[in-house]
Amino acid sequence: MPGAIYAEGLVKTFGDVRALDGVDLDVPEGTVLGLLGPNGAGKTTAVRCLTTLLRPDSGSAVVAGIDVLKHPDAVRRSIGLSGQFAAVDEYLTGRENLQMVGQLYQMKAKAAKARAVELLEQFDLADAADRPTKTYSGGMRRRLDLAAALVVSPPVMFMDEPTTGLDPRNRQLLWEVIKRLVSGGTTLLLTTQYLEEADHLAHEIAVVDHGHVIATGTSDQLKARTGGERVEVVVHEREDIPTASEVLRGFGKGGTTVEDHMRKLTVPVTGGAKLLAEVIRELDTRGIEIDDIGLRRPTLDDVFLSLTGHVAEVKDEENGKEAVK
Ligand SMILES: Nc1ncnc2c1ncn2[C@@H]1O[C@H](COP(=O)(O)OP(=O)(O)OP(=O)(O)O)[C@@H](O)[C@H]1O
Ligand SMILES: [Mg+2]
Repeated sequence: MPGAIYAEGLVKTFGDVRALDGVDLDVPEGTVLGLLGPNGAGKTTAVRCLTTLLRPDSGSAVVAGIDVLKHPDAVRRSIGLSGQFAAVDEYLTGRENLQMVGQLYQMKAKAAKARAVELLEQFDLADAADRPTKTYSGGMRRRLDLAAALVVSPPVMFMDEPTTGLDPRNRQLLWEVIKRLVSGGTTLLLTTQYLEEADHLAHEIAVVDHGHVIATGTSDQLKARTGGERVEVVVHEREDIPTASEVLRGFGKGGTTVEDHMRKLTVPVTGGAKLLAEVIRELDTRGIEIDDIGLRRPTLDDVFLSLTGHVAEVKDEENGKEAVK
């Protein structure tokens, strides 16, 4: 049975640009899919196709059990969407914006009011609730936009770069909100350029590049593809580097890399925590003082690099271009 969000062979072109080049997705109910990719990869286009804002040239999609192309209105009633660019009415206050959304979804005025209060509180906007949103900072607008997407609790949610432009505290706050939402049974597709975010929130990650899904898997599965774990040691004294290097060579399955200026040595290993303990003992026996040691698994940055041959860079110039909706 297809999941709560299902797409097959989605293609969307804009002139010469093949923004989506045959995207397949399958998101089981109650899980989070992280759509991860650099600028221009096709994330927003995919979200817009799945949320009925854009008609794909070909392919099919089913969201919350409803055919997206055949019954867009029904799909719209079953989903929540928070876009990459906050869509709030500048002249209304934060409270009014949220109440309006509630009314659009046919909530009773009293319920809409109460929900607005709850969300303003949750997103740390209570103090600014009665100011027109044109006086809000960028981060405040984003939070209001996210709150607006949560006025009703639809079974399927889409969030396009939900934490872009949020400071670390507010990002943390949103992560908590998202976790609560998902533990309540919501299925979520979120896009992100932050590898750490996908790692943190998503059950499964789909890496997109040039309109293609180039890899899918859990973050652990994706990381395993890059060739596994390594031990990193920072020695206290620079003169200990040669001896430490010799010790690591004995445990590693490959060559030791030395970053001299940081007194850091890295060696690929297999054997996990047990091996780490042995390395520590051996360094200690040799009288080498260490500032830091750890078993490092590859980051999703490493994953992206190994999959695409380029890092997930952020280009401002492209951002401007893609800001056109
Ligand atoms: N309305 C449009 N008209 C023309 N080209 C478009 C349009 N929307 C998107 N594109 C192009 O399609 C490609 C994919 O864009 P999309 O916005 O889906 O990328 P994205 O992954 O969301 O990028 P970002 O991380 O910058 O938000 C880009 O090359 C973009 O320039
Ligand atoms: Mg985008």
